[in-house]
Amino acid sequence: MTHRNVSRIAVFASGSGSNAENIVNYFRQEDSRAEVALIVCNRAEAGVIARAERLGVECVVIPRPEWAEADTVIQLLADRGIDYIVLAGFLLMVPPALTARYAGRMLNIHPSLLPRYGGKGMYGRKVHEAVVAAGETVTGITIHRVTERYDEGAPVFQATVEVSPADTPETVEAKIHALEKQHFPRVIAETFLGKQ
Ligand code: GRF
Repeated sequence: MTHRNVSRIAVFASGSGSNAENIVNYFRQEDSRAEVALIVCNRAEAGVIARAERLGVECVVIPRPEWAEADTVIQLLADRGIDYIVLAGFLLMVPPALTARYAGRMLNIHPSLLPRYGGKGMYGRKVHEAVVAAGETVTGITIHRVTERYDEGAPVFQATVEVSPADTPETVEAKIHALEKQHFPRVIAETFLGKQ
């Protein structure tokens, strides 16, 4: 029996997958204690699929109707020996059976300083539009544990960035993506595996 000492992470994504790519590369270049063994997507047209192919990471598309129950995704994760789940721009509710099975082993990133600008319907560009429209002078990212309800899990990390009157939702989004790239992979490693 060979003893796997490399933890296996699945990244769930619905969009372009820039966070998924950052996380794959981080564990290939900075921290060999884990690897992204699987990317799971709910949309056949998502950009993350092409990224996964280019990165040589298995990507499985589970269509939206199959997310109502957790059976399909739980079976896939068991088959691939997945230890941890990271939601990176994943836009579906995670089935309660999955959050229960991976309690303490699942993280999500949200592109605002929760609890502000969180909850149903607040994702991606919509968050930055609301932040700019409200005239906020600071925004940021929140990395948090995942529970059955949107964005209500315990935060494990937040980072902030200034918002100036000249900022637009697009420029705020670029600042947020830079924060995500800088912090998300390391926070995943430290939360699941401890500091290096
Ligand atoms: C990121 O802004 C993330 O904070 C939010 O959705 C976006 C995902 O972007 N949850 P990508 O698909 O990782 O490029």
